[in-house]
Amino acid sequence: MKKKLLLPLFAVLCLTQIARADEGMWLMQQLSRKYAQMKERGLKMKEYDLYNPDGTSLKDAVVLFDGGCTGEVVSDRGLVLTNHHCGYSMIQAHSTLEHNYLEDGFWAMNEADELPNKDISVVFIDKIEDVTDYVKKELKSIKDPNSMEYLSPKYLQKLADKRVGKNFSTKNPGLSVEIKAFYGGNLYLMFTKKTYTDVRLVGAPPSNIGKFGADTDNWMWPRHTGDFSIFRIYADKNGNPAPYSPDNVPLRPKKYFNISLGGVQEKDFAMIMGFPGTTHRYFTASEVDEWKSLDNDIRIRMRDIRQGVMLGEMLADPQIKIMYSAKYAGSQNGYKRAIGANWAIKTRGLRETKQAMQDRLIAWGNAQGKPQYAQAISEIDATVSKRADLRRRYLMLEEGIIRGIEFARAPIPTEAEINALKSGDANARRTMISDLRTRYNAFADKDYSAEVDKKIAVAMLTEYIREIPYEKLPAHLQLIRDRFAGNVQAYVDDIFARSIYGSAGQFARFADGSPSAEQLAEDPMILFAASVFGEYRKLYQELRPYDDPILRAQRTYIAGLLEMDGEQDQFPDANLTLRFTYGQVKGYSPRDNVHYGHQTTLTGVMEKEDPDNWEFVVDPKLKDLYQRRDYGRYADANGAMPVAFCATTHTTGGNSGSPVLNADGALIGLNFDRNWEGVGGDIQYLADYQRSIIVDIRYVLLVIDKVGGCQRLIDEMNIVR
Ligand code: ARG
Ligand code: ASP
Repeated sequence: MKKKLLLPLFAVLCLTQIARADEGMWLMQQLSRKYAQMKERGLKMKEYDLYNPDGTSLKDAVVLFDGGCTGEVVSDRGLVLTNHHCGYSMIQAHSTLEHNYLEDGFWAMNEADELPNKDISVVFIDKIEDVTDYVKKELKSIKDPNSMEYLSPKYLQKLADKRVGKNFSTKNPGLSVEIKAFYGGNLYLMFTKKTYTDVRLVGAPPSNIGKFGADTDNWMWPRHTGDFSIFRIYADKNGNPAPYSPDNVPLRPKKYFNISLGGVQEKDFAMIMGFPGTTHRYFTASEVDEWKSLDNDIRIRMRDIRQGVMLGEMLADPQIKIMYSAKYAGSQNGYKRAIGANWAIKTRGLRETKQAMQDRLIAWGNAQGKPQYAQAISEIDATVSKRADLRRRYLMLEEGIIRGIEFARAPIPTEAEINALKSGDANARRTMISDLRTRYNAFADKDYSAEVDKKIAVAMLTEYIREIPYEKLPAHLQLIRDRFAGNVQAYVDDIFARSIYGSAGQFARFADGSPSAEQLAEDPMILFAASVFGEYRKLYQELRPYDDPILRAQRTYIAGLLEMDGEQDQFPDANLTLRFTYGQVKGYSPRDNVHYGHQTTLTGVMEKEDPDNWEFVVDPKLKDLYQRRDYGRYADANGAMPVAFCATTHTTGGNSGSPVLNADGALIGLNFDRNWEGVGGDIQYLADYQRSIIVDIRYVLLVIDKVGGCQRLIDEMNIVR
């Protein structure tokens, strides 16, 4: 009884919280509905200067960087800022022992020294159109009520191409169109995109600035990382996208950001534009449970084991530390995120929030004579429960073996390769062996240690077979019991002892001897890899049929929520499209009697300094600036040197590198992370806990100017007070 009374009250509380909060990753054309509130919060810009559907506006200075990050144009010569961790692979690709740009930083002292990159892209969003009516009309011609075309990227691409006509891209070099679904398929937008691929590396701080604090500080506030890097977009003489050519010239952009030295005060208005990747705002309570107890719990449990072994090996051997630091960082990034999400679900009542949302819809739908909403929720619940066991096995395999054990990804020879080997054709055999050698070298590369991989495998497999019953194991893993009496160590040792991939020497003996198809057919590592991938594919196929009913029910569920509450305060889940979010510069209290302020300074960098720990080595030039308090015009009013700040804006993965703007639309920082207590915001925004973590633009400028000595870049930007 008491419970019944409590629930609606909780629902009301949730509602008021949502209305007050800075929740939301809004589409640009939703600006008009948020604009009044943004003005109230301090925004001084005109709506059309932020987003103008028919002309140029600030949104034209924001780019999708390298397919998964955000960047912003900051000069009339196509200069782009993004995060260090977003430019990392480019910086790494140019690094050698003689020129270690990761370690020492890189500064192009003139445009001729800027470094071209392979496979990089920067995408501008030229135009956004609501094409919902068009898409829905086209969908009407599909008779199958269970058709999933309404979400199919391939189908939507066909509609987009049809709408703009053949030859669109030929007539408009570098332009393409894409239709994306929002609100589970209740809204469709078409984006006209301009993609540049000649993007050159201009500058990067040394990692002890750009990655300061590394894994220990990742997802943490207070933060002291100078997480930025600098690129430049090049175009042909007409300003159009063109592949790399020495004749290309710096892009004359439509729009670029001014940069503010004004800094931030607590409660200042702040907004962010960028490309958030994935959120789950419209999860039902059962989906929250599934996410928590399957996706996140399995990830936490299996990575805990893997990282424990890895770290032990890394701490024992400096060579292993170098080899495994990127793998460790990658693993730890998702691990910490899962911990944060589950913390929020558990302690901040996220499941209850979603339960209240769906209960409200059920009650409302019933009162309106619209049972389809309650039906949609039941459909989701039922499907989630039906797929639970399959999904558990899928995730155990993914986290425990496919991602967890490196030799699970050892090269499996293709059928064509096997045939080539079987043939008497000496040329074909030579080519095959040479291809396999290339793949082996890519697998057992300079950062691979068979010893570490073995130790990890023993730990992971032990846990895996504890969880998965014998009959459900990938066939090869049944050998642990059948042939090795349950001794996992012996099983793994045997794989390495007999496989051609067991060591470089073993591979050479195979390749340089008389390689045979029979040997490959019996190779235990190849059989292991083929078996686990076969199982992975099988589970994926078995899970597929459960996706569609959930997606279809979600469309109905979201339609119901929109119908009940209106669109005003309900943003569509992130899907790597251009969004804005706004809020305030503000600290927070993560726990009872603990309070964090909104701004960090260089003093904090020095406090964290630890010359014996690679994560916290302070750059000598930076230290020298600190000792002389030589901050020039970048210091704050009290003479301190700002490093990072945090804000209540609603961001997620993909927002890295996003421009953070003040009330006048000038750049005050670059978004690069969130606090781990706030990652639950991917399912429910938490006004009191979620913060975007932002590198202060004044710190970026200080590092360019006084660490990099790259004054020409400072001169190129438009710096306002
Ligand atoms: N946590 C941030 C994100 O999700 C930054 C990751 C890069 N930094 C690191 N130390 N791994 O992408
Ligand atoms: N660090 C994330 C990114 O790389 C941002 C976040 O998850 O808040 O996009």
